[in-house]
Amino acid sequence: MRLLVTGSQGQLGRALGQVGPARGHVVAGYDLPELDITDAVLVQRAVAGERPDAIVNCAAFTAVDAAEADEARATAVNGEGVANLAVVANAVGAVLVHISTDYVFDGRPGRPWREDDPTGPLSAYGRSKLAGERVAILAAQHLVVRTAWLFGKGWNFVEAIRIQLEEGRDPLAVVSDQIGSPTYAVDLAEALVELLEIGARGVVHAVNEGVTSWHGFAGEIVRLLGVHAEVRPISSSELNRPALRPANSVLDTARLRGLLGHGLPPWQDALGRYLQMMGRERME
Ligand SMILES: NC(=O)c1ccc[n+]([C@@H]2O[C@H](COP(=O)([O-])OP(=O)(O)OC[C@H]3O[C@@H](n4cnc5c(N)ncnc54)[C@H](OP(=O)(O)O)[C@@H]3O)[C@@H](O)[C@H]2O)c1
Repeated sequence: MRLLVTGSQGQLGRALGQVGPARGHVVAGYDLPELDITDAVLVQRAVAGERPDAIVNCAAFTAVDAAEADEARATAVNGEGVANLAVVANAVGAVLVHISTDYVFDGRPGRPWREDDPTGPLSAYGRSKLAGERVAILAAQHLVVRTAWLFGKGWNFVEAIRIQLEEGRDPLAVVSDQIGSPTYAVDLAEALVELLEIGARGVVHAVNEGVTSWHGFAGEIVRLLGVHAEVRPISSSELNRPALRPANSVLDTARLRGLLGHGLPPWQDALGRYLQMMGRERME
């Protein structure tokens, strides 16, 4: 398959640039400043040139707190940008693969979120991503994959913890009242490509297996890095970030497991592989 990946320099975009070719596909990556998905003319030109079988949209305004102060920009990228992609996907007969988020849900405690559960975003970022989902499904062939708590090459929670440890911060104060599934960009990229290979369509939840809190996630990072530091649980209200986050970000992956015949590996295993990969990169 020929895949056109937008946001190719982000965490997931980079992982697709590695996984796609390894599975025998051709990946053409585009990112800012070359391709701004809010520019319909640039989008049309890139897609007409590549004639992809699938457009995989990894481009997004992902600064959750910054979106509170600039919802118009977040919506332009996460909503209107996706509409541009849907139009060109239809024009060339490509599948639009769009990545969305647990933040479209309100995080009410209870069971894991299923694909058809009612949405109710708590933040500007969540609203902008929901706007993107609504236009992505206008593509005649679409696959909307919701994921959560992503880490891969780039800036992420693991690196934020690592930096605090390097600065000698002890104890670390980490939120314990939000739960979810940390997800490795490489594992998600594998699942995305597999879903494309089997022709999956519609909405699918894809996260690494297992559930923890940010506090539990930080504890495992500290343990795997072999550092002695206390990880102190705090509440979201103590952290007082501009954007509200869902308390329950756990996504039900039954549909994914049904489609692929397997789920993604456990998050602890994924974190170990990520840290090994980053360790090798740091040695080079
Ligand atoms: N990160 C998470 O925890 C998480 C959780 C759930 C869902 N997701 C979703 O997963 C997808 C991938 O996330 P990620 O963590 O890989 O994101 P990321 O690392 O922030 O990468 C996004 C990429 O998109 C680029 N971009 C921003 N605005 C653009 C525009 N107007 N046109 C073209 N490219 C643009 C960014 O460039 P700049 O860096 O120059 O801005 C960046 O290279 C996104 O849809 C995100 O909403 C992420």
